[in-house]
Amino acid sequence: MTACRVCAGPLRELADFGRQPLAQAFVRPEDLATEFFYRLVVGRCADCALVQLMHEIPPDKMVHEGYPYHPTNSTVMHKHFQDTAARWLETTLTGPDPFVVEIGCNDGVVLHTLGEAGVRHLAVDPSGITGVQVHEAFFNAVSAAEIRAEHGPADIVYAANTVCAQPDVASIFAGLEVLLAPHGLFVFEDPYLGEVLARTGFDQIYDEHFYYFTAQSVQAMANRFGMRLVDVERIPVHGGQIRYSVARRDSRLPAPAVDELLAGEESAGFADDTTFARFVSKVDATRDALLNLLTDLRGKGHSIVGYGATAKSATTANYFGIGPDLVPFVCDSTPSKQGTLTPGMHIPVRPPAEFADPYPDYALLFAWNHADEIMAKEKAFRDAGGKWILYVPEVRIV
Ligand code: TMP
Ligand code: ZN
Repeated sequence: MTACRVCAGPLRELADFGRQPLAQAFVRPEDLATEFFYRLVVGRCADCALVQLMHEIPPDKMVHEGYPYHPTNSTVMHKHFQDTAARWLETTLTGPDPFVVEIGCNDGVVLHTLGEAGVRHLAVDPSGITGVQVHEAFFNAVSAAEIRAEHGPADIVYAANTVCAQPDVASIFAGLEVLLAPHGLFVFEDPYLGEVLARTGFDQIYDEHFYYFTAQSVQAMANRFGMRLVDVERIPVHGGQIRYSVARRDSRLPAPAVDELLAGEESAGFADDTTFARFVSKVDATRDALLNLLTDLRGKGHSIVGYGATAKSATTANYFGIGPDLVPFVCDSTPSKQGTLTPGMHIPVRPPAEFADPYPDYALLFAWNHADEIMAKEKAFRDAGGKWILYVPEVRIV
């Protein structure tokens, strides 16, 4: 893929993370022979500035048929979604009989919370999550027309960690054109390129994050599809995201936050190749520092365990070359990951109970985006003399 997926402009390569497995393709030992690998290369569109992966994964290799959703078991994320719904109830949804649609509904917390307040709602998700009402389909012009015919126009169409994973954003915007009420909002939140660059958050880069949005690129994308970026908000989840609000072109004026963020992106030099070159050299410095630290600790006889078999740890482990020789196992609370091997580097995944049995000397916190929550939960590890190793924004022991 050498052309931009949104505007067909030319893509320029920015960073090459080499041969990678699919980040959520946890393998059973008997399936190792058929493991799929691809080359993880990031590029930027010379015309619309959208940063995106340069290669698409063939659909038959994708792990998930629908919108990728993986339970995080995070109380922080649960609260984030509850707060989102609560705020809309006080602001955007004060009109008569509002209707909210969520594309790829995560664990359904937003819609569930709205439902309890009596708001009409519907999830659009091909995998059909239970607990909230689901229209089992991808969101596009066809499903949007079906939904509109049955429920009427939507006041909010919401998507969390979903738009960045859908190379075919044109079909999402085609659906919005059909479904969104005249003053409705399309609200979506995804990892922010600015945070990736500012915090050397290289591990946000993996197959399921196809796009790395900025206010500049979302504005161009919205314009292209006859809409307008009208608000942006930083949200402190998953290592730093932006929540974008997009409306029909002439329905709303942009909030001042849009111009402020655009100006910040301009002065931070997101469009400069040197900005990315600096990022890549910082990633390589992190790799060297982390490998040195792990090798040194192992050489001195210390035990190390990984914590959180996250999707983003696939990029870390595979690009850095961290396998069971350095980290003998990783514990994770997701039952379906337990008993498997991590993608590519094949570190065994075990239940969290094994973390304390006995505690290792060091824990490599792959799930650094949940650091506060996990460190609080595992307070006894620190009390027993254990230390956490973190590597974003830089390698450190705490
Ligand atoms: P995420 O960063 O994509 O939300 O993934 C978080 C992973 O970390 C997920 O596999 C579950 C795991 N995890 C734990 O093992 N313990 C925890 O306390 C939390 C919050 C997550
Ligand atoms: Zn483009």
